[in-house]
Amino acid sequence: MTLPKHIAIIMDGNGRWAERRGRPRAIGHRAGAKAVETTVAFCRRNGIEALTLFAFSSENWGRPQDEVGALMKLFLGVLDKEVAKMHQHGVRLRFIGDRARFAREIRERMEKAEALTAGNDRLHLNIAASYGGRQDIAFATRALAEDVAAGKLKPQDIDEDLVAQRMALADVPAPDLFIRTGGDHRVSNFLLWQLAYTELWFTDVLWPDFDEKVLQRAIDDFAGRERRFGLTAAQLKEQPAA
Ligand code: IPE
Ligand code: IPE
Ligand code: MG
Repeated sequence: MTLPKHIAIIMDGNGRWAERRGRPRAIGHRAGAKAVETTVAFCRRNGIEALTLFAFSSENWGRPQDEVGALMKLFLGVLDKEVAKMHQHGVRLRFIGDRARFAREIRERMEKAEALTAGNDRLHLNIAASYGGRQDIAFATRALAEDVAAGKLKPQDIDEDLVAQRMALADVPAPDLFIRTGGDHRVSNFLLWQLAYTELWFTDVLWPDFDEKVLQRAIDDFAGRERRFGLTAAQLKEQPAA
């Protein structure tokens, strides 16, 4: 069975999960943190090499202040409680997104977690927080423009590879499988560049209800897909994928 090496997930539906129970949305986010643990453990145990989770978008900063505040408190708590355990399990933790917008105490914990787990290779866990796909592309463009302005790079040398090197997740192969929970069929400014040839899978299951069984369903579905990358099926038979 073809296993995805890299899975990227939009963890959506926390708010509705709580609202259906007549509870505040923050309760849904807290319940969502448990589903993160389950997902990380599953990937670690089943030989998935990389997992990228969309935790907070660049647009989510615009939510009501009390919800943003509750999410920040949750991030802090998770960073304090879960990082040591992840390190023990050989997880390498990275954060992608504009971290300048976070409070210093969160930024410092992110840096510490990255430094602590930098040498691990069991599972590469990337958390997209304060992340936007357009922002990612804009930052990469700016970095290239700076190199051109400094005389280090010629505009005619800019190609897809050079752009890719400046994007988030440059050192991880592109996601093979994208999952969105919560029933909506859209990308919501997640990894726009990196998802070019990713297989998309959607479920109505709300993120706090996401578990091994749902993840296994997505992985099974992925195994049956034919990825053609713009070629014909006959061509793929001639040159089996590496
Ligand atoms: C996803 O759940 C988590 C974040 C965006 C932080 P939502 O909070 O978007 O939940 P719904 O989509 O409103 O149910
Ligand atoms: C996408 O969910 C972002 C995260 C899950 C972190 P949203 O709930 O923000 O997306 P929209 O607003 O439904 O497109
Ligand atoms: Mg949502």
